[in-house]
Amino acid sequence: MAAVTWSRARCWCPSVLQVFRLPVAKLHLSRPTMRASQQDFENALNQVKLLKKDPGNEVKLRLYALYKQATEGPCNMPKPGVFDFVNKAKWDAWNALGSLPKETARQNYVDLVSSLSSSSEAPSQGKSGADEKAQGSKDILITSEDGITKITFNRPTKKNAITFQMYQDIILALKNASTDNNIMTVFTGTGDYYCSGNDLTNFTSATGGIEEAASNGAVLLRDFVNSFIDFPKPLVAVVNGPAVGISVTLLGLFDAVYASDRATFHTPFSQLGQSPEACSSYTFPKMMGPAKAAEMLLFGKKLTAREAWAQGLVTEVFPESTFETEVWTRLKTYAKLPPNSMKISKELIRKNEKEKLHAVNAEECTTLQARWLSEECINAIMSFVSRKPKL
Ligand code: COA
Repeated sequence: MAAVTWSRARCWCPSVLQVFRLPVAKLHLSRPTMRASQQDFENALNQVKLLKKDPGNEVKLRLYALYKQATEGPCNMPKPGVFDFVNKAKWDAWNALGSLPKETARQNYVDLVSSLSSSSEAPSQGKSGADEKAQGSKDILITSEDGITKITFNRPTKKNAITFQMYQDIILALKNASTDNNIMTVFTGTGDYYCSGNDLTNFTSATGGIEEAASNGAVLLRDFVNSFIDFPKPLVAVVNGPAVGISVTLLGLFDAVYASDRATFHTPFSQLGQSPEACSSYTFPKMMGPAKAAEMLLFGKKLTAREAWAQGLVTEVFPESTFETEVWTRLKTYAKLPPNSMKISKELIRKNEKEKLHAVNAEECTTLQARWLSEECINAIMSFVSRKPKL
């Protein structure tokens, strides 16, 4: 792709920047939500000017395309000649958005700028390759090697159960990974489990009242799942062992799921007085048919890796003895494929579903917020936390 200078990219939305004379002080952008207001959009346009570093050609093209789509709708320019590299790249980026609604383009623009603003403040931004060490925490490890950002559930003594802090760490990790120099992002777990799902003590250990914990939990869960719905690069799960709850339901939002034959897939929502999350109430019936989805989501049937493969939840199953070697060799090869092509293809696959997925996510979170306050759920959680210790 022809080099595109940053100053030139700034000129890609000149009319709006000139018309809206907003203060140049650092502006606060509201958190990403489903519907960015015109004011959010204008703030984002201004925020772009304040970025501390050049976000690179790819991101600039994306900003340009989203800006054009948000303000003018689908691409209406004649296709530039093949040797007019810069304009051809811009045209391609805009045209690739197809009939994306103006409102969605505006939202995506705001989200992209918001992620750039926060990631440009992160110390890891700007490095590349194996040198890069993204920010993580002791329970969520983030490493970067061979074009792959690896996010590891790292709480093996608790079977990698996800605490509120870990949800936040993952949201941030995905935000950074969406604009880092790596080609794909991979989730896996440390120890014998992939992940045992939501930490069931998240609510019992909350400091405020249970209503407040449920309400905060629902907002956090919605943001968490949104960051998977919107993740722009290939997203792969390397399921090294048993997976429970949200670590299973999320798999419907991944692009590929590789599992050890030791892995199992369990969503005991009814047993816990809860209901499905991570869009599984939509993705699972679509993927495996309503009857098989009901066995998992209503009756809590635990699937073996091969059963999960037969239902379309898992891409491929590997023998435990060769799992790590085979999967990582394959992923390193995939990470050498042209990144733009993969991103564009992913966007094509995902874009017609995005709005639906966001709506499903919002509804599931509202439902869960009520379930968390139900007697059925409170009793189930209390009986888990008060289990007799093993001798
Ligand atoms: N939330 C909180 N703590 C969890 C947890 C979870 N989801 N999953 C495991 N743990 C903790 C256990 O309490 C235990 O802690 P302790 O050593 O302080 O007692 C530790 O992890 C090891 O788990 P343990 O139950 O002893 O191991 P196991 O091999 O017998 O069973 C599980 C593993 C995952 C089957 C079992 O812990 C379990 O059912 N966890 C709950 C899973 C769940 O319902 N998740 C939510 C779905 S919506």
